[in-house]
Amino acid sequence: MISTLTLTWISLYAAEKTKVDAKAVFEKRCSQCHNLERAAAQKKTSKEWEKTVMRMKNVNGCPITDEEAKTIIDYLTTNYGK
Ligand code: HEC
Repeated sequence: MISTLTLTWISLYAAEKTKVDAKAVFEKRCSQCHNLERAAAQKKTSKEWEKTVMRMKNVNGCPITDEEAKTIIDYLTTNYGK
């Protein structure tokens, strides 16, 4: 039988893992053409981050999926939002 404690532990673990993955995706994908400071030195609203990330993807040719773009936008809004 799965105890409540085990379930709590699993969901905490999942939340933590998602956070780490988002950071990893950002660091891996967004450091290919310029350093991460280019993004990390700024604060933008979620709309502005969305515009920036979609420009990297569609105009500058950043090789990310829509799913990764969303993950990165969420990550940037949480950590570098205004
Ligand atoms: C294929 C190359 C490439 C990749 C990969 C890339 N960028 Fe860029 N980035 C550029 C170029 C070229 C510029 C300068 C021209 C411009 O602003 O569009 C730039 C400029 C920027 C700027 C400064 C301009 C602004 O609007 O604030 C930010 C912030 C930025 N990138 C964020 C990111 C993020 C976040 C990612 C990951 C999703 C990323 N970049 C991935 C090429 C890239």
